[in-house]
Amino acid sequence: MNNNFKDPESLTKIEKINSEDVNSNKLFTPITIGKLKLSGRVIKSAMVETLCTKDGFVTPKLIEHYQQIAQGGTPLIITGAANYNLYGRGVPYQLSVDSDNKIPGLKNLTQAVHDLGGKIMAQVYHTSRQALPEPVGRKDAQAPSAVYEPSLGVSPREITKAEIKENIAEFAEAALRCKTAGFDGVQIHAAHGYLISGFLTPHTNRRKDEYGGNFENRMRFLLEVYSAVREKVGNDYPLILKLNGSDDLPFRKGLKTQELIKVAKRLEKVGIDAIEITAGHYESGTTFSRGNWKGFTKTMLKHGLGPSLGLTRRKGMAAVAPLVDWYFNKVAGFKEAFNLDYAKQFTQALSIPVICVGGFVNKETMAQALEQGDCDMVAVARGFIADPYLYRNMKENIKGPKCNYCNACFARPGVQPLTCYEPNISAERAKMLSEPFYKEAAHS
Ligand SMILES: Cc1cc2nc3c(=O)[nH]c(=O)nc-3n(C[C@H](O)[C@H](O)[C@H](O)COP(=O)(O)O)c2cc1C
Repeated sequence: MNNNFKDPESLTKIEKINSEDVNSNKLFTPITIGKLKLSGRVIKSAMVETLCTKDGFVTPKLIEHYQQIAQGGTPLIITGAANYNLYGRGVPYQLSVDSDNKIPGLKNLTQAVHDLGGKIMAQVYHTSRQALPEPVGRKDAQAPSAVYEPSLGVSPREITKAEIKENIAEFAEAALRCKTAGFDGVQIHAAHGYLISGFLTPHTNRRKDEYGGNFENRMRFLLEVYSAVREKVGNDYPLILKLNGSDDLPFRKGLKTQELIKVAKRLEKVGIDAIEITAGHYESGTTFSRGNWKGFTKTMLKHGLGPSLGLTRRKGMAAVAPLVDWYFNKVAGFKEAFNLDYAKQFTQALSIPVICVGGFVNKETMAQALEQGDCDMVAVARGFIADPYLYRNMKENIKGPKCNYCNACFARPGVQPLTCYEPNISAERAKMLSEPFYKEAAHS
């Protein structure tokens, strides 16, 4: 990776950006995604919240979580991944958009964000082979092909053609449900090895029918999902695609940047409104959430999904925990702006807005990514967990709590609520949230 951030010339530029007033910092300038006008160029990226009821209904805690981020003036919030059927459900307590009886709760959520001047989109997905079936009440897992998933030890079965058609229809119904509930748009999750991503990637898609094999066939599921969704929600409804900039699957048949740009171009041609660039599958070592993995395995075994893994696997993982952490640090250690080299190539190839996610925590780095034209917007995930007021704090030059990418939050989805678990940062966060809110920056 060569992000150029240590180049002395760019440091001079960073200092220059710092001294400029807010109005000339591109981070705080408006942009549109399809017909959706946004007040700035920072997005809160999707993170499973573990704040819903066990079967995915909105709760007051979930609303409060997003109210804080909206209050901070964040131009656009994207919810955590929400499933549209039981096979697509990844973990208990995540959001679900699988039935109409969820709409009243979803409406309360969107209304609460809108009341604070915010905008919110729902991320819709199918977890495929990257989840343990039992904790969410399934007997097995579906995937494009019956390829073993090594990070969780899941052996999925091949999804049938009839089920593919059902999934396409259910995805579209779910998107319409989101529109009815007042979401400002939908993000179609086509990254991280989940179902759509699994169809795109030759390593996970070994089908012999029209949904596997050559590029056109591997694209088919995504294109059919997109068309069905678009038909339901209409041409004016904003749709974003989350897509890998690289599958990060060395020694396996993973997709590389140029092939993924081809995917993005096809989606641009048929009418997607923006693309968020990320990277990796679970089995690539979750390179989509690069960070410090020291202690991760032990934390996950104790406070996360560990107890659901089965005794043998749990004991095995506990025995080699330091080795697993070492390996994760090797393949997925932290870097600032870690997907920017990918995003830059998409920005050069596309006309629609390109959003880059991954390792953005410093205002200077974000501003520089935009100033250099490497992307049109930046998305931040863990940074908003440490500091829900991140956007306001950057705009007003207020020093807020700063994520150190310890990945303690990433060890807990499905079991403990999404919040900051780093003691010092969490204390700073609690103090900030308990103080009267300084309003100047919110949505101005
Ligand atoms: C606790 C946690 C949950 C996540 N859940 C999702 C999710 O539901 N959907 C998704 O696309 N990415 C998910 N991600 C990945 C983030 O959206 C983001 O791509 C990644 O963390 C890199 O951004 P960051 O460095 O700003 O955290 C999750 C990450 C974390 C830490």
